[in-house]
This record gives sequence, C-alpha cells and structure tokens, in this order.
Amino acid sequence: MLKFNQKRMLVTGGAGFLGSHLCEKLLLEGHSVICVDNFFTGNKKNILHLIDDSNFELVRHDITFPLYLEVDEIYNLACPASPVHYQYDPVQTIKTAVHGAINMLGLAKRTGAKIFQASTSEVYGDPEIHPQKESYWGRVNPIGIRSCYDEGKRCAETLFFDYHRQHDLKIKVSRIFNTYGPRMHPDDGRVVSNFIVQALQGDDITIYGDGSQTRSFCFVDDLIEGFLLFMNSEDDFTGPVNLGNPNEFTILELAEKVISLTNSNSKLIFRPLPEDDPKQRQPDISLAKDKLDWKIKTELDEGLKHTINYFEKK
Ligand SMILES: NC(=O)c1ccc[n+]([C@@H]2O[C@H](COP(=O)([O-])OP(=O)(O)OC[C@H]3O[C@@H](n4cnc5c(N)ncnc54)[C@H](O)[C@@H]3O)[C@@H](O)[C@H]2O)c1
Repeated sequence: MLKFNQKRMLVTGGAGFLGSHLCEKLLLEGHSVICVDNFFTGNKKNILHLIDDSNFELVRHDITFPLYLEVDEIYNLACPASPVHYQYDPVQTIKTAVHGAINMLGLAKRTGAKIFQASTSEVYGDPEIHPQKESYWGRVNPIGIRSCYDEGKRCAETLFFDYHRQHDLKIKVSRIFNTYGPRMHPDDGRVVSNFIVQALQGDDITIYGDGSQTRSFCFVDDLIEGFLLFMNSEDDFTGPVNLGNPNEFTILELAEKVISLTNSNSKLIFRPLPEDDPKQRQPDISLAKDKLDWKIKTELDEGLKHTINYFEKK
C-alpha cells in the first residue's frame, strides 16, 4: 500500500545512464518506482543496488509496445541517446521516440498521470543562433543519418503538445543538453566518456575536426535536480525548457582537462568531423532559472573527478 505523499513513478529507460540516477533519486524521496527498460543500451548493473528496495520494481519491456500500469507520474527517458547507438538501428530509434511517446502518452491519458519527456538539444539541429532559446525552432536535416533521433524527438514534442491541447494532459517537456557523470557508457562515442576512457588507458585522444567546436557539459546530479524541480512546478508550465550547463568549453580544452585530471600520457590526434556534427551548442537556461530557480552547482573539474573515479573502478 502507498504511504501518505508517496507516488507511483514510472521511469522508462530507467536502467540507462540518466534513468538510473533518476530512479535512485525518486526512491530517496520515498516514492514507489517502476523502472521499464528493454536493455538496448541500459544495463542491470546500473540499478542492481536498487533491486532489494521494496519500493523498486523492474519491468523488461519495449515501449514501442503498449504498456498497462497504474501510475501517478511518468518520466519518459527510453531512447538510445548517442549517435553510435541510435544509428545502429535507426528505424527502431524513431519507433522508440514516436511510438514510445504515443504509448506513454496513451498511458498518461488513461491514468491521468503527469508526464515528463526527455527531449534533447538535438531538436535545434545545427543552430544559427547562440545560445539557443526555447523559442528557436531549429535547423534540422530531415533525411540525414542523425534524423532518426533529431526528427524522432521533434515529433515526440509535437505529440506531447497535441495531447496537452487535445486531451488536457499534464505535460513537462525538457530539452536536455550534453550531460555526463558516473554510469555513462564507456564505448558510446560520447566525448566525455571517450576522452576519459582513452586517457585512463593511455591511448591517443581522438579529436574530430580541429577541436575548436564548443560544447557545454552538465553534471548528472544537477540535471536530475532540474527534472524534479520541473516535474513539481505548476501545471501550466509545460516547457519546453532547456536543461544544461551554459558554460562552454572547446573540445580541445576538455581533452586537456581530462589528460591533466587523469595524469595521463595520452597524445591528441585529429580526425575529420562526422556529417551533420554541430559546431557549437550552448543552452540559454534563463527560463529554467526564472521558472524553476534551477542552478548549476557542479563545476566541470569536480564533475569530471567523480566521473573519472567511476571509470577507474570499472
Ligand atoms: N545523456 C545526455 O547527455 C542526453 C542529452 C539529451 C537527451 N537525452 C535523453 O535522455 C534520455 C536518457 O538518455 P541516457 O543518456 O540516459 O541514455 P541511455 O542510452 O543510457 O538510456 C536510455 C535507456 O533507454 C532504454 N531503451 C531504449 N530503447 C528502449 C525501448 N524501445 N523500450 C524501453 N527501453 C528502451 C535503454 O536500454 C537505456 O536503458 C534519452 O531519451 C535521451 O534522448 C540525454
């Protein structure tokens, strides 16, 4: 039986990087958590420490198929998130983004649950304006190799807003920018994990392009705090809201920081930029600051130390 104030939370993609941190946080807050995952990129090891918690339940399920559960809130995170993973089976990626959203929105409609969508900065594509505000509509290639993800996530946003307008669903759409931290995949080609793994193994550090392209990196704990502040905000604040760290670093600066924090002898090597790789990506987070009083608390050096520590143990 549920305790007073305890809610039944569904986290799709709960065995993934962000999902596992979210499950952990929701359990700490005393809620009952159902983690749904098909383990495409997720791993049981990410949630093994939660299995014995009586408030935690794990369901193996692919969200491209309907799901019938009784829940109060849904966090829809299921989707491969890095180019190597989402390009591995592009049709399944877009199905997860679009059919997955339809199934989760259907569940929210039936149960009256509030529903959160993990959208992405990729909806801005290769942007012409910096930093990106939520009002910017983006510049996305609809037929490129990244489109299964970018357009899938854009369509999911459309679905969220149509369900909101048509069926009065309580929706929360967040646009997540590059996030890093413990439990990232070691081999998904994302820049922070790539650099850390290469530096720890003493391998060459691969930089695509000349390294002058910039990225902003948000530590996972800060992001998850943003999720909860957003989910608990007033119902009329639907988003979309950017969640990310606006402090920009060049890829070259990041590589140098990682080399120094790992005391590595790795050398930098340069390779051509992949197709459609955005040159710059930086969130404007004034909306999140204003509406949610959300603040970035973790400096890059501190977050990198936690992440390096995790990869060292692995
Ligand atoms: N990490 C980031 O920097 C970042 C940035 C922008 C957006 N996001 C979004 O946040 C969400 C989580 O990302 P992450 O970094 O934790 O990635 P992740 O790959 O670690 O987690 C995704 C999880 O979803 C599961 N999954 C995939 N397809 C599924 C399906 N059809 N049914 C059920 N489960 C499925 C995977 O097995 C995995 O556990 C994704 O939706 C992603 O698009 C992440």
